[in-house]
Amino acid sequence: MQQVKAVVAKGKGLPVELVTINVPDPGPGEAVVKVQACGVCHTDLHYREGGINDDFPFLLGHEAAGVVEAVGPDVTEVAPGDFVILNWRAVCGECRACRRGDLHYCFNTHNATQRMTLEDGTELSPALGIGAFAEKTLVAAGQCTKVDPSARPAAVGLLGCGVMAGIGAAINTGAVTRGRSVAVIGCGGVGAAAIAGSALAGASPIIAVDIDPQKLAKARELGATHTVDSSQVDPVAEIKRIAAETYEGADGADVVIEAVGRPETWKQAFYARDLAGTVVLVGVPTPDMKVPDLPLIDVFGRGGALKSSWYGDCLPSRDFPMLVDLYQQGRLDLDAFVTEEIGIDDVEAAFERMHHGDVLRSVVIL
Ligand code: APR
Ligand code: ZN
Ligand code: ZN
Repeated sequence: MQQVKAVVAKGKGLPVELVTINVPDPGPGEAVVKVQACGVCHTDLHYREGGINDDFPFLLGHEAAGVVEAVGPDVTEVAPGDFVILNWRAVCGECRACRRGDLHYCFNTHNATQRMTLEDGTELSPALGIGAFAEKTLVAAGQCTKVDPSARPAAVGLLGCGVMAGIGAAINTGAVTRGRSVAVIGCGGVGAAAIAGSALAGASPIIAVDIDPQKLAKARELGATHTVDSSQVDPVAEIKRIAAETYEGADGADVVIEAVGRPETWKQAFYARDLAGTVVLVGVPTPDMKVPDLPLIDVFGRGGALKSSWYGDCLPSRDFPMLVDLYQQGRLDLDAFVTEEIGIDDVEAAFERMHHGDVLRSVVIL
């Protein structure tokens, strides 16, 4: 067991605290990782606001990269010294989804068996089974994905959650490719990543939609060919108009990615896709949200696919090393997602800035 500094949310809505926690030595199937960088994600804020569940105290942080310090006795997939990105879907290999080859749908992803605790022994609930606003964290070895060790931790760590969700929503779930038009509604960290992923895949046009001009400017840097301020104009009509400029007769985009997580924006996505197009919902709705007044005939009559994207339908072992290589080659600008590097005692202030929408990602450097 060892003691390290970590950011903990002790109760609903309370400011987070920097405290000392106990990290057990890794047992079978586990690894202890020395965290180098961890992004601040909306999900961390959701945990601390009690929006996920009531299992306080939470050990926050889950978009991280670091170096494996120690592994349990039977661990073979990673070794001390390996540079890894942490993932929150370590697949089991045995459930029905895994057995039929749909590993990205694994129904039984796993985390460390032992619990990290507060100094008094109170068990911590690590955010998404990771808990990486900590100098060191205990995870399942399968949560560690080895990547090129020369990559910048602050940038590639973001692949551990939001950026992977966005890129994967485009290239995995939406099957975006050359010759397809894409619209992305909501250009925060996730939507901006969906734009970067669409650009990587060669799609055109790539239409960014947001209500915040700053986000639209950033989207353009990341590969959007057109931007639409939906606080000023009807985004559905604009997407249709822009798609038809490139593809004569198009009545919308081939793939529309919803990265806000609200019924009204999902409905825009639904009506902005071309016939037989695909809608990808990567924004996460709250349980109370409903899509009102959607004629079933429109669902039938427009054909195509209405999909949701969990974690960008990624397979960390397949996607993280590939995306890190593209980053290293200069083909995927992950640095653009790192708005600021902050200290471990700055998480509460970063939540505040996130609330105001001025950042794509604040990244804690350890
Ligand atoms: N129309 C268009 N854009 C909108 C609208 C709207 N009605 N409302 C909000 N937005 C934009 C915001 O301006 C912001 O740029 O959506 C973006 C949301 O981005 P972030 O708040 O940075 O959130 P992000 O981290 O990108 O996550 C987006 O995906 O993983 C989920 O839980 C996450 O539901 C959230 C979504
Ligand atoms: Zn499984
Ligand atoms: Zn996240």
